[in-house]
Amino acid sequence: MTVPKFRSLKGKRKPVCLTAYDEPTGRLADEAGVDLILVGDSLGNVVLGYENTLPVTMEEMEHHVRATRRGVTRALLVADMPFGSFQASVDHTVECACRLVKAGAEAVKLEGGSSVEKSIRRLTEVGVPVMGHVGMTPQSVHSFGGFRVQGRGEQAEMLMREAMRVQEAGAFSVVLEMVPADVAERITAKLSIPTIGIGAGPGCDGQIQVFHDILNLGRFHPKHARVFADAAQTITEGIRTYAEQVREGTFPSSEESFQ
Ligand code: KIV
Repeated sequence: MTVPKFRSLKGKRKPVCLTAYDEPTGRLADEAGVDLILVGDSLGNVVLGYENTLPVTMEEMEHHVRATRRGVTRALLVADMPFGSFQASVDHTVECACRLVKAGAEAVKLEGGSSVEKSIRRLTEVGVPVMGHVGMTPQSVHSFGGFRVQGRGEQAEMLMREAMRVQEAGAFSVVLEMVPADVAERITAKLSIPTIGIGAGPGCDGQIQVFHDILNLGRFHPKHARVFADAAQTITEGIRTYAEQVREGTFPSSEESFQ
């Protein structure tokens, strides 16, 4: 998958996107046929055990992008710009985005609408493709007063304008997170780039989910995620059986030993 191909999926078929954070999760998502793999800063919550995404650093993102890159050969690999990497200036944003590209990302994602317009324009100019992200942007959790649905009532028009500005600045796609389904559908109809929903209903061009949420590996279960396979149960059962067999002396067997 390439950025132009991904963009051209609009109106043809629904792009499937998923997060991944290291070689095995990247490889499994890639082998399953996902179109776009995002090394999300959600790694703060689901891998590093932070309360939210705000503590995630550039070094942590680079480390996980490098690991994921080793497992992904086919899907488009996008890296999240962590909190603090695109707030200070456009020049600092470009420096940080280039570090993620050097680590193996083919595009970056940054949260915000008009506030990041200049950065999206500059990154696009210097050859770093950008995925936008509007609605409930987790890095603004303190401004929102919690993880709340965005774009209800009068906010809907503002959200439409923000999404449009992200497109006009040059983004090749935009994530709509926790937005009422009818608003997301209207935004999708208005934009010429693919909208990728997470908690934004079925009317988006494509969908994205967090790896751990759809496989029941997370500490919390968000309302917008469906568990498609219970990996937690499979893993726990596997580890219990291993422990039992070590204790009763049936593992390792002679086949698992060197003579
Ligand atoms: O960090 C992340 O995983 C994300 C997705 C939820 C879109 O931004």
